[in-house]
Amino acid sequence: MILIISSSLHPTSRSRILARTCVEHLTALQRKVELFDLAESTLPLCDGSTAYGDPNAKRLGELVESADAILMASPIYNYDVNAAAKNAVELTGRAWTGKVVGLMLAAGGQTSYMSAMGLANSLMLDFRCLVVPRFIYATGDCFEGDFLTDETIQERLELLVTETTRIADALRGS
Ligand SMILES: Cc1cc2nc3c(=O)[nH]c(=O)nc-3n(C[C@H](O)[C@H](O)[C@H](O)COP(=O)(O)O)c2cc1C
Repeated sequence: MILIISSSLHPTSRSRILARTCVEHLTALQRKVELFDLAESTLPLCDGSTAYGDPNAKRLGELVESADAILMASPIYNYDVNAAAKNAVELTGRAWTGKVVGLMLAAGGQTSYMSAMGLANSLMLDFRCLVVPRFIYATGDCFEGDFLTDETIQERLELLVTETTRIADALRGS
Protein backbone atom coordinates (compact mmCIF):
# COMPACT_ATOMS: atom_id res chain seq x y z
CA MET A 1 0.00 0.00 0.00
CA ILE A 2 1.22 3.50 -0.83
CA LEU A 3 0.18 6.17 1.65
CA ILE A 4 -0.39 9.74 0.48
CA ILE A 5 -0.45 12.38 3.21
CA SER A 6 -1.92 15.76 2.33
CA SER A 7 -0.91 18.22 5.03
CA SER A 8 -2.45 21.51 3.94
CA LEU A 9 -5.35 22.75 6.05
CA HIS A 10 -6.40 25.26 3.36
CA PRO A 11 -9.86 24.60 1.89
CA THR A 12 -8.65 25.04 -1.71
CA SER A 13 -5.12 23.78 -1.26
CA ARG A 14 -2.80 23.27 -4.23
CA SER A 15 -0.65 20.67 -2.53
CA ARG A 16 -3.86 18.65 -2.03
CA ILE A 17 -4.21 18.70 -5.84
CA LEU A 18 -0.69 17.22 -6.03
CA ALA A 19 -1.72 14.55 -3.51
CA ARG A 20 -4.89 13.69 -5.44
CA THR A 21 -3.00 13.56 -8.73
CA CYS A 22 -0.69 10.99 -7.11
CA VAL A 23 -3.73 8.96 -6.06
CA GLU A 24 -4.92 8.98 -9.68
CA HIS A 25 -1.52 7.82 -11.02
CA LEU A 26 -1.24 5.05 -8.44
CA THR A 27 -4.80 3.89 -9.07
CA ALA A 28 -4.06 3.77 -12.82
CA LEU A 29 -1.03 1.62 -11.96
CA GLN A 30 -3.40 -0.64 -9.97
CA ARG A 31 -1.59 0.09 -6.73
CA LYS A 32 -3.35 0.00 -3.40
CA VAL A 33 -3.41 3.57 -2.12
CA GLU A 34 -4.60 5.39 0.99
CA LEU A 35 -5.04 9.15 1.22
CA PHE A 36 -4.78 10.72 4.67
CA ASP A 37 -5.86 14.36 4.52
CA LEU A 38 -4.95 16.38 7.60
CA ALA A 39 -7.71 18.86 6.73
CA GLU A 40 -10.27 16.07 7.20
CA SER A 41 -8.64 13.99 9.92
CA THR A 42 -7.68 16.53 12.54
CA LEU A 43 -4.63 15.72 14.64
CA PRO A 44 -3.85 17.14 18.08
CA LEU A 45 -0.59 19.03 18.53
CA CYS A 46 2.12 16.65 19.61
CA ASP A 47 2.85 17.04 23.32
CA GLY A 48 5.10 14.00 23.60
CA SER A 49 2.49 12.45 25.88
CA THR A 50 -1.28 11.94 25.66
CA ALA A 51 -1.57 13.16 22.03
CA TYR A 52 -0.19 9.80 20.88
CA GLY A 53 -3.45 8.22 22.09
CA ASP A 54 -5.64 10.32 19.80
CA PRO A 55 -7.63 8.03 17.44
CA ASN A 56 -6.58 9.90 14.27
CA ALA A 57 -2.94 9.91 15.39
CA LYS A 58 -3.13 6.17 16.03
CA ARG A 59 -4.78 5.53 12.67
CA LEU A 60 -2.13 7.57 10.86
CA GLY A 61 0.58 5.68 12.73
CA GLU A 62 -0.91 2.37 11.59
CA LEU A 63 -1.13 3.57 8.00
CA VAL A 64 2.49 4.78 8.05
CA GLU A 65 3.59 1.50 9.63
CA SER A 66 1.90 -0.64 6.98
CA ALA A 67 2.82 1.55 3.98
CA ASP A 68 5.44 0.40 1.48
CA ALA A 69 6.07 4.05 0.69
CA ILE A 70 4.75 7.43 1.73
CA LEU A 71 4.22 10.44 -0.49
CA MET A 72 3.75 13.63 1.46
CA ALA A 73 2.28 16.80 -0.05
CA SER A 74 2.77 20.01 1.90
CA PRO A 75 2.49 23.76 1.56
CA ILE A 76 5.66 25.75 2.13
CA TYR A 77 5.28 28.00 5.12
CA ASN A 78 8.23 30.14 6.17
CA TYR A 79 10.75 28.16 4.10
CA ASP A 80 9.68 24.83 5.54
CA VAL A 81 6.84 22.33 5.31
CA ASN A 82 3.80 23.52 7.26
CA ALA A 83 3.50 22.86 10.97
CA ALA A 84 0.75 20.28 10.36
CA ALA A 85 3.15 18.13 8.32
CA LYS A 86 5.84 18.25 10.98
CA ASN A 87 3.27 17.60 13.69
CA ALA A 88 2.04 14.51 11.82
CA VAL A 89 5.59 13.15 11.75
CA GLU A 90 6.12 14.00 15.43
CA LEU A 91 2.95 12.06 16.34
CA THR A 92 3.85 8.98 14.32
CA GLY A 93 7.64 8.96 14.84
CA ARG A 94 9.11 5.48 14.72
CA ALA A 95 6.44 4.16 12.35
CA TRP A 96 8.46 5.95 9.65
CA THR A 97 11.54 3.78 10.23
CA GLY A 98 13.08 2.66 6.95
CA LYS A 99 10.22 3.96 4.79
CA VAL A 100 10.60 5.17 1.24
CA VAL A 101 9.40 8.79 1.22
CA GLY A 102 8.63 11.20 -1.62
CA LEU A 103 7.97 14.89 -1.02
CA MET A 104 5.80 17.35 -2.96
CA LEU A 105 5.58 21.04 -2.18
CA ALA A 106 3.21 23.82 -3.18
CA ALA A 107 4.86 27.24 -2.98
CA GLY A 108 3.95 30.88 -3.36
CA GLY A 109 7.17 31.82 -5.16
CA GLN A 110 10.20 30.41 -6.93
CA THR A 111 12.80 30.88 -4.21
CA SER A 112 11.83 28.39 -1.49
CA TYR A 113 12.82 25.27 -3.42
CA MET A 114 15.08 23.90 -0.68
CA SER A 115 12.28 23.94 1.87
CA ALA A 116 11.79 20.17 1.82
CA MET A 117 15.28 19.58 3.17
CA GLY A 118 14.57 20.13 6.87
CA LEU A 119 11.93 17.40 6.86
CA ALA A 120 13.98 15.20 4.51
CA ASN A 121 17.02 15.44 6.77
CA SER A 122 15.08 14.63 9.92
CA LEU A 123 13.41 11.63 8.25
CA MET A 124 16.81 10.36 7.11
CA LEU A 125 18.62 11.04 10.38
CA ASP A 126 15.88 10.07 12.83
CA PHE A 127 14.24 7.18 11.00
CA ARG A 128 16.65 6.08 8.25
CA CYS A 129 14.03 6.85 5.62
CA LEU A 130 15.03 6.60 1.99
CA VAL A 131 14.02 9.97 0.60
CA VAL A 132 13.43 9.71 -3.14
CA PRO A 133 15.75 12.21 -4.84
CA ARG A 134 12.96 13.66 -6.97
CA PHE A 135 11.07 16.53 -5.48
CA ILE A 136 7.96 18.30 -6.69
CA TYR A 137 7.97 22.07 -6.33
CA ALA A 138 4.87 23.70 -7.78
CA THR A 139 3.91 27.37 -7.72
CA GLY A 140 0.44 28.82 -8.28
CA ASP A 141 0.83 29.15 -12.05
CA CYS A 142 1.14 25.33 -12.33
CA PHE A 143 -2.57 24.99 -11.49
CA GLU A 144 -5.88 25.96 -13.03
CA GLY A 145 -8.81 25.60 -10.67
CA ASP A 146 -8.77 22.09 -9.22
CA PHE A 147 -6.20 20.78 -11.70
CA LEU A 148 -2.46 20.54 -12.08
CA THR A 149 -1.94 21.89 -15.59
CA ASP A 150 1.80 22.50 -15.90
CA GLU A 151 3.16 19.75 -18.16
CA THR A 152 6.65 19.72 -16.66
CA ILE A 153 5.30 19.29 -13.13
CA GLN A 154 2.85 16.65 -14.40
CA GLU A 155 5.77 14.69 -15.86
CA ARG A 156 7.86 15.14 -12.71
CA LEU A 157 4.96 13.96 -10.56
CA GLU A 158 4.49 10.85 -12.69
CA LEU A 159 8.23 10.15 -12.39
CA LEU A 160 8.12 10.64 -8.63
CA VAL A 161 5.29 8.10 -8.40
CA THR A 162 7.00 5.50 -10.60
CA GLU A 163 10.40 5.95 -8.92
CA THR A 164 8.86 5.73 -5.45
CA THR A 165 7.00 2.50 -6.24
CA ARG A 166 10.06 1.07 -8.03
CA ILE A 167 12.27 1.65 -4.98
CA ALA A 168 9.59 0.36 -2.58
CA ASP A 169 9.12 -2.80 -4.68
CA ALA A 170 12.88 -3.37 -4.88
CA LEU A 171 13.17 -3.12 -1.08
CA ARG A 172 10.31 -5.58 -0.64
CA GLY A 173 12.07 -7.92 -3.04
CA SER A 174 9.17 -8.16 -5.47
C1 LIG B 1 2.03 31.38 6.67
C2 LIG B 1 2.48 31.24 5.25
C3 LIG B 1 3.83 31.19 4.97
C4 LIG B 1 4.27 31.04 3.65
N1 LIG B 1 5.61 30.95 3.41
C5 LIG B 1 6.04 30.76 2.13
C6 LIG B 1 7.43 30.60 1.87
O1 LIG B 1 8.29 30.66 2.73
N2 LIG B 1 7.80 30.38 0.58
C7 LIG B 1 6.89 30.31 -0.46
O2 LIG B 1 7.29 30.10 -1.62
N3 LIG B 1 5.56 30.43 -0.22
C8 LIG B 1 5.11 30.64 1.04
N4 LIG B 1 3.77 30.73 1.30
C9 LIG B 1 2.80 30.53 0.18
C10 LIG B 1 2.27 29.09 0.16
O3 LIG B 1 3.33 28.15 0.10
C11 LIG B 1 1.34 28.88 -1.04
O4 LIG B 1 0.19 29.67 -0.84
C12 LIG B 1 0.94 27.42 -1.23
O5 LIG B 1 0.06 27.31 -2.32
C13 LIG B 1 0.28 26.86 0.02
O6 LIG B 1 -0.01 25.48 -0.17
P1 LIG B 1 -1.51 24.95 -0.20
O7 LIG B 1 -2.18 25.69 -1.37
O8 LIG B 1 -1.39 23.49 -0.44
O9 LIG B 1 -2.16 25.28 1.10
C14 LIG B 1 3.32 30.93 2.59
C15 LIG B 1 1.94 30.99 2.89
C16 LIG B 1 1.52 31.15 4.20
C17 LIG B 1 0.04 31.18 4.49
